[in-house]
Amino acid sequence: MASSTPCRLSPSQLCSSKSGIFAQAVCALNPNRVNVVVRKERGGAGGGMRVIRCQAASVPANDRVPDMGKRKLMNLILLGAVSLPTGFMLVPYLAFFVPPGGGNASGGTVAKDALGNDIIASEWLKKHGPGDRTLTQGLKGDPTYLIVENDRTLATYGINAVCTHLGCVVPWNKAENKFICPCHGSQYNSQGKVVRGPAPLSLALVHCDIDDEKVIFVPWTETDFRTGEAPWWV
Ligand code: FES
Repeated sequence: MASSTPCRLSPSQLCSSKSGIFAQAVCALNPNRVNVVVRKERGGAGGGMRVIRCQAASVPANDRVPDMGKRKLMNLILLGAVSLPTGFMLVPYLAFFVPPGGGNASGGTVAKDALGNDIIASEWLKKHGPGDRTLTQGLKGDPTYLIVENDRTLATYGINAVCTHLGCVVPWNKAENKFICPCHGSQYNSQGKVVRGPAPLSLALVHCDIDDEKVIFVPWTETDFRTGEAPWWV
């Protein structure tokens, strides 16, 4: 006696000979139709044959490929997933090659105090009296003297504090009214002109301007007013 039992299997299962004990199967796969397989097994009541009918719904080939809209969307998602982290890494990398901020169109840079704050001219003059020479951070971070004239205004020039002998930072000696290098004893007058060696040259100059209350150092490319010669540092 034979019995019939319907079940649903995938096309691959339907086509596998291992799925039947006494595999007598018919496999007719058509991408656009429902596939049916019929298998006969022993084991029915009374030792008869039992018929197992299986069917699987196949998917048309066209439906397995996402349409163009979905593919574009996936491409956009992929592009965003790649470009966002890349952008985050690229920005700081490129910023490394950009000089520190504070510069202006004339190639100058905002003078900064010992704490790294921008120097505001009016506030500076409240705390620094006539004849004062205090180190600030100048062009390219060079130590640069900001000078207060006797009329309590800022001088129009600043003095680079790097000794022209071997590069020590030269301190201001108020008692001597000179810059005296502690390394080998070179001396410079109050304007930074060398008056005693071994330093071969005067201290470099920068322009000192005021823009929107901030002190700006600008490269000095004109004649050195102390010597009447072309600037050696250009
Ligand atoms: S480094 Fe200043 S005198 Fe030598």
